[in-house]
Amino acid sequence: MAQHEGRAAVLSAAGKDAEIIDIILDPPGPNEVLVKLVASGVCHTDLTVKNQNGSGMAFPIVLGHEGAGHIEAVGEGVTHLAVGDPVVIAYRAPCEQCPSCRRGDPRHCYMALRPQPRIHRKSDGAICSQVLRCGTFATRTIVHSKAAIKMPAEMPLDKACLIACGVVTGVGAAMNTTPVFAGSRVAVIGCGGVGLSVIQGAKLQHARQIIAVDVNPVKLDWARGFGATHVVNAREGDPVAQVRSLTEDGWDGGVEFSFEATGIPGCIEQAVRMLSYGGTATTIGFPAVDDAVTLNLGDTATGVYWNKAGVRVCHCGDALPSHDFPLLAQLYLEGKLELDRMITQEIELGDVEAAFHKMEEGNVIRSVIRF
Ligand SMILES: NC(=O)c1ccc[n+]([C@@H]2O[C@H](COP(=O)([O-])OP(=O)(O)OC[C@H]3O[C@@H](n4cnc5c(N)ncnc54)[C@H](O)[C@@H]3O)[C@@H](O)[C@H]2O)c1
Ligand SMILES: [Zn+2]
Ligand SMILES: [Zn+2]
Repeated sequence: MAQHEGRAAVLSAAGKDAEIIDIILDPPGPNEVLVKLVASGVCHTDLTVKNQNGSGMAFPIVLGHEGAGHIEAVGEGVTHLAVGDPVVIAYRAPCEQCPSCRRGDPRHCYMALRPQPRIHRKSDGAICSQVLRCGTFATRTIVHSKAAIKMPAEMPLDKACLIACGVVTGVGAAMNTTPVFAGSRVAVIGCGGVGLSVIQGAKLQHARQIIAVDVNPVKLDWARGFGATHVVNAREGDPVAQVRSLTEDGWDGGVEFSFEATGIPGCIEQAVRMLSYGGTATTIGFPAVDDAVTLNLGDTATGVYWNKAGVRVCHCGDALPSHDFPLLAQLYLEGKLELDRMITQEIELGDVEAAFHKMEEGNVIRSVIRF
């Protein structure tokens, strides 16, 4: 098989902006597929990789991990996919070898299937890393064949791409990581692409009360549209006190489930302190290496010990992509999952840096690159 050419948004060194460059892709190897991308969402984690100087990956790095496209070539041994199939790319396809996978718990897989390094910078042949084993800010990429999840033919790929990270993470947090029970009270701190998806997940799980917390009033308006029953502006007073007062039930109030979707350690502390007795806080935001939180144990109302608080960590919604991605597509096609309104702007590959700036300014849920 011949090599392929493509264009990609690449970080070439620490501290530099993403550049659009030409890439060369080797043919897909055994159990790998070549995907021609149709669309890719811009997730905050791509910006974090840039801001954290590559997050430990070797430069150059192809950004992007929220992509959908068509299979263009399959490597040896790939029988479940064919050229032309529509797919969403998963960054956590279970490895089938780690202790969790071996004991039949692939949702808690320790690592994920990855392709061999096959993408090169055209100018000098340098091997490119791929963010989260994906690299979807590119016209073409190569991924492990089990990380390419087939979509129903009627699923629009420019919407389906959102499933790959923001949506599966948020909905999965409320369905898999910490299953919200019907009739419960839920608070979601941070209403970006991930947080709004948690709100959608909590609604699908029939939560009674869904309290959206953000510092941006526009986000709070949008949160109502996605299913929040109450909103709290964290700039207008202590969000913990506001949530506890909205849930006051004669037993001190608080929520059974709180979700942090900001990446700010202080918001994890808030998530724990707004729990009702025996509630569970789930942290989703991507931390820096030296990020830390302080959790009070002994306060009789909100301390972890006396309030019997639980804390969980959500990676990618603890998804089983082969099961969850088609399920989420089905929920969209049945009108039960909102994706259209999550796309606040469609952009071109060259607009990635502008999309990062817009994300920092705030009034965006997802920018989606159309190829
Ligand atoms: N664990 C995972 O698998 C996973 C997956 C995807 C994203 N992430 C991480 O989740 C986080 C959210 O991602 P996103 O794409 O939704 O980001 P985003 O930038 O779109 O949204 C973040 C939201 O937090 C709000 N916010 C900022 N400061 C706040 C505060 N003090 N209190 C309340 N709200 C505040 C912002 O206004 C914004 O609406 C990021 O850290 C991202 O890296 C983790
Ligand atoms: Zn992401
Ligand atoms: Zn595994």
